[in-house]
Amino acid sequence: MPEGVFGRSDAEIDVLVRGMRSGIAVVGFGYIGTVIGAVLADRGWPVTGIDVRQNVVEEINLGKTTVPEPGLSELVSDNVRVGRLRATTDFGVLAENDFVIVTVGTPLGSDFEPIVDDIKAAARAVGEHLHPGHLVILKSTVPPDTTEKLFRPIIEEASGLRAGVDFGLAFCPERVAEGQAIRELTSLPIVVGAIDERSARACATLWRHALGVDSVVVDDPRTAEMVKLADNVWIDLNIALANELAKLCDRLGIDVLQVIDAANTMTKVNHNVNILMPSMGVGGYCLTKDPWFVNHLGQSLGLELAIPRTSRTVNETMPAYTYGLLRQLLAEQGKAIETSRIAVLGIAFKSNTGDCRLTPTKHVVALLEQTGCELAVHDPWVADEEALTVTKIPLTANIESAVEDADALVVLAGHREFHQIPLVRLADLAAASCVFLDGRNSFDPAAVRAAGFVYKGIGR
Ligand SMILES: NC(=O)c1ccc[n+]([C@@H]2O[C@H](COP(=O)([O-])OP(=O)(O)OC[C@H]3O[C@@H](n4cnc5c(N)ncnc54)[C@H](O)[C@@H]3O)[C@@H](O)[C@H]2O)c1
Repeated sequence: MPEGVFGRSDAEIDVLVRGMRSGIAVVGFGYIGTVIGAVLADRGWPVTGIDVRQNVVEEINLGKTTVPEPGLSELVSDNVRVGRLRATTDFGVLAENDFVIVTVGTPLGSDFEPIVDDIKAAARAVGEHLHPGHLVILKSTVPPDTTEKLFRPIIEEASGLRAGVDFGLAFCPERVAEGQAIRELTSLPIVVGAIDERSARACATLWRHALGVDSVVVDDPRTAEMVKLADNVWIDLNIALANELAKLCDRLGIDVLQVIDAANTMTKVNHNVNILMPSMGVGGYCLTKDPWFVNHLGQSLGLELAIPRTSRTVNETMPAYTYGLLRQLLAEQGKAIETSRIAVLGIAFKSNTGDCRLTPTKHVVALLEQTGCELAVHDPWVADEEALTVTKIPLTANIESAVEDADALVVLAGHREFHQIPLVRLADLAAASCVFLDGRNSFDPAAVRAAGFVYKGIGR
């Protein structure tokens, strides 16, 4: 019988996977790698995270993570304690793991091109330690053909093994959203684009037993690579549509959320119209770069695509637009922003996460800082060190101190903690006729007004 999972019959793989008798190595233990590794370990699998960052490895082995995903710290500490999860910088551990999942980063270059250096380095290191029977699954977001034309040849050259003969290879995009990644990992179907049928079947077996989710098998890795980009272009464009509707509704004095809720009841073909939420901006590691990947891809093929550029351009206007709303609102109260006391609530790029990577809140805070206004910044989800990537102003530890005597409350992340404190308590602390700018449309305008604030949302 061959070693490993690849090359075995479907029934053998099924038995191995069902019994969790194969280890899983996750290469790249950052945001996504840690979530995948911890969830798989929690479902009973022996998981080894491999990362080039020694500090990340040490942290994990102490049962800790700084990845600010709700529920993740507990999963990491529980599973490290029982010995199902560990981390290392040594790729030699691949020998003990049949499945190799690669989740290294793919940042954006200065010309908006994808940087695939980490993919290349990971491919080489994996190749140098690959054994016959391994199934390698790339999950990083990459342009079409990366798995087959970049990742595969490097692994084959470094290992002397052949994909589809000695080892299996597939691309499975990661589509979970931060803030709900743990739940989505065990509920969203996984797209599988493999180099051959045996790799596809081994992947689908793994996902079915490991995460309890269905696989959507597409023709090849390049199709699966395109699926991820299509998803993110759709999301960014849809939010851009919501944001432009919000700007229109602001001018017209219409509540954009009522418009969107009602518009979304219309069925088109088999689905409802599904306009997403307008907000003060789009941030994070995916939506800010993946449309640019698509734009770059179009240019490399001689195509001038309008959509990715448009969605990015529209969404990038939102922080300045939000700042403009605040200036106007304060002026209506007879106040100038420069002499006001402003409390910014939430600087993470998304509600209920502490991730500040490429957060649009940074632009609003920078505009406020330039005015010389008195600024307090509070975010219960963001670590002090992460906050420094947004502003040099130290975070105010509690919401009450941040809000005290404020002329404006500016909600840039709609964290659940902000909803747990009674609005009347905040209104009591704040200055008279305090403006409440809800940059995430996460509050009920009537309730905010009833508490005594002057409310404004994005498009409402
Ligand atoms: N963050 C998200 O919400 C999200 C969602 C879906 C898809 N993705 C995609 O998943 C990928 C990873 O994203 P992330 O947010 O986890 O990035 P990240 O920067 O948090 O993590 C990447 C990790 O890879 C490690 N690394 C880099 N080179 C390495 C190498 N040669 N060997 C081993 N480890 C190496 C880094 O040290 C880092 O810990 C990206 O392609 C991203 O586009 C991210």
